[in-house]
Amino acid sequence: MIRQNNYKIISSKNAVEFVKSSADRFLNFLSQFETPTVILPTGNTPLPMYKALRESGKKLNFTYLQLDEYLGLEPDSQRLFSNWLAQEVLDPMEIPYDQRIIFRSDNLFPQDEVDKMQGWFEENGPADIAVLGIGSNGHIGFNEPPSDENTRTRIVELRPETLKANNAYWQDEKKTPEQVFTLGISEILKSKKIILLVTGKSKAKILKKALTEEPNPNTPASYLQTHPDVTVIADKEALSELKA
Ligand code: PGA
Repeated sequence: MIRQNNYKIISSKNAVEFVKSSADRFLNFLSQFETPTVILPTGNTPLPMYKALRESGKKLNFTYLQLDEYLGLEPDSQRLFSNWLAQEVLDPMEIPYDQRIIFRSDNLFPQDEVDKMQGWFEENGPADIAVLGIGSNGHIGFNEPPSDENTRTRIVELRPETLKANNAYWQDEKKTPEQVFTLGISEILKSKKIILLVTGKSKAKILKKALTEEPNPNTPASYLQTHPDVTVIADKEALSELKA
């Protein structure tokens, strides 16, 4: 494992700057590929970027690769990350359905969905761009700690802290599924370009760990240091521990 540590950090003074930096960088990266394949995250952090993209009036075309998804939800469930992304980005951008590579949450044989996603990567190669958030426990996608750089797309059990964080979206503790699909760290790290979006004081400690610790499974995001092309776009609250 080679620690490259040549990530770029784009620091934003405020929310307006964060949105502009993230949308501009994403659009710039997209324009570098003829038929881009893109991993996009859910969560609160990327929402302003998605809004900016919707409002940019730009016609975007890419193939969307799902980063993670809950297991066992009905296709019309509001909790489905695929529906969330559809509403935020894919429908407004009119991304065709055959360019949305997603985990089918209601498949009674969920391992088939894992095989399907792994098969997609084997056939089509790595993603061009991965946009990621980071969990307070250091997860990227749903690669909960401990997850090392060799983990592949799989089904995982969410850790209590992630369940708690995700319950906050739904105001209803009992309904958040505990099992999820996630792309593995190995698939994420094969992406040609990675953008990590981080905002808020609550992410400051974990961002510092991710960028400074020797890469290790207990901070899965720390493996981003081994990638040659990572752009961290963060606000000053999220960067506060690094500057200390
Ligand atoms: P958040 O989630 O953007 O809602 O903080 C990030 C994550 O858990 O990956």
